[in-house]
Amino acid sequence: MISLRSLLCYVAFTASTSGSPVFESERRFISTKVIAEMPTGSYLESTIIRPNGDILATSAMGSPKVYTVKGPSSRNPFVEEVASVYGVQSLWGITEIPPINGVETYVFVGGNLSSLIPLTPAVGSWQGFRLSIPKRGAAKVEQIGDLGRETALLNGLTPIPGSPGSVLIADSGRGTMGRLNVIEEKWDIDAFSEPEMAVLPNSPLGMGFVAAKFRDGYLYFASAPTFIHRLRVDGKGFKIPGAKAELVADVSQNFSGIDDFIFDRAGNIYFTTNAPGNALGHINIRSGESSIVAGGADETILADCASLAFGRSQNDKNVLYVARGRGFTDEEDFGKIVAVSNFDK
Ligand SMILES: *[C@@H]1O[C@H](CO)[C@@H](O)[C@H](O)[C@H]1NC(C)=O
Ligand SMILES: *[C@@H]1O[C@H](CO)[C@@H](O)[C@H](O)[C@H]1NC(C)=O
Repeated sequence: MISLRSLLCYVAFTASTSGSPVFESERRFISTKVIAEMPTGSYLESTIIRPNGDILATSAMGSPKVYTVKGPSSRNPFVEEVASVYGVQSLWGITEIPPINGVETYVFVGGNLSSLIPLTPAVGSWQGFRLSIPKRGAAKVEQIGDLGRETALLNGLTPIPGSPGSVLIADSGRGTMGRLNVIEEKWDIDAFSEPEMAVLPNSPLGMGFVAAKFRDGYLYFASAPTFIHRLRVDGKGFKIPGAKAELVADVSQNFSGIDDFIFDRAGNIYFTTNAPGNALGHINIRSGESSIVAGGADETILADCASLAFGRSQNDKNVLYVARGRGFTDEEDFGKIVAVSNFDK
């Protein structure tokens, strides 16, 4: 099920000088190529790359499944179902945590939506799940304790580097971030609740805080619609008492929203923006300026792009894999993985 569709667009964006990630260059050709298509009805929401280079992605529509794309940088990547979940209909964020008892382990979240348009989560239905992928034998999914009846819409997850086995989980419906210890099954629903994470009155989809990443003593977080802030944290991922969020970037001049983001090696940010912009964006971390890298309002290649991850093999460590939905207006469309790479002319 490989689409041969690929298109090139010529872009220019401001370079930053440190580091040497391939994306940072003055003028390059950016290529976007659909490398994998998921079953009809699917809508890829969140993605992470396994240590062996394969892609994992959750589906928020169709059926509640985790898919894998094996050999994404090979000539023939192929899609397989890794796991399915019972009891919830929609899967959202997924992240990797350090192996537990030597077994590769991921954490993802899922819940129910009582309506898609307008997006209305079923409050209290959202839970966390642990996905174990042993070297031999089938992958296994287990619910992690009980996150209670107050979760509204669990979204992006991020592992806590100084607390292996714990993750932070954005609750976009509450505008807060919970902390889950996967091993002890301990859950603190309001580990972070900064004013900058709150759901704004005019926020599209009723979302506040959507995604976060730790970097250099800060927790960087994206909040709907267009903001990235950062907050000082300690080595275990707790807020430094009295710390206040600082604005890193507001991309509202060029984008309508930020869904998920990732740092490149030089510390600049790539992010996905979905309808109506449907693009991969870039933020220069020093100037806060943003620009379109691929896709755009007039193109369908990144329709409903939701999340992104750099490849982890020698062949694709400079390739960004973007997981996308299926344009809300196009029922025939379905979830895809788009490889975004660039090369010198
Ligand atoms: C989610 O929806 C399904 C199907 O309607 C239902 O069976 C299940 O009980 C719901 N789960 C929760 C946690 O509310
Ligand atoms: C918006 O995009 C334009 C064109 O790429 C760029 O020159 C400008 O600096 C951007 N604005 C902001 C605030 O990032």
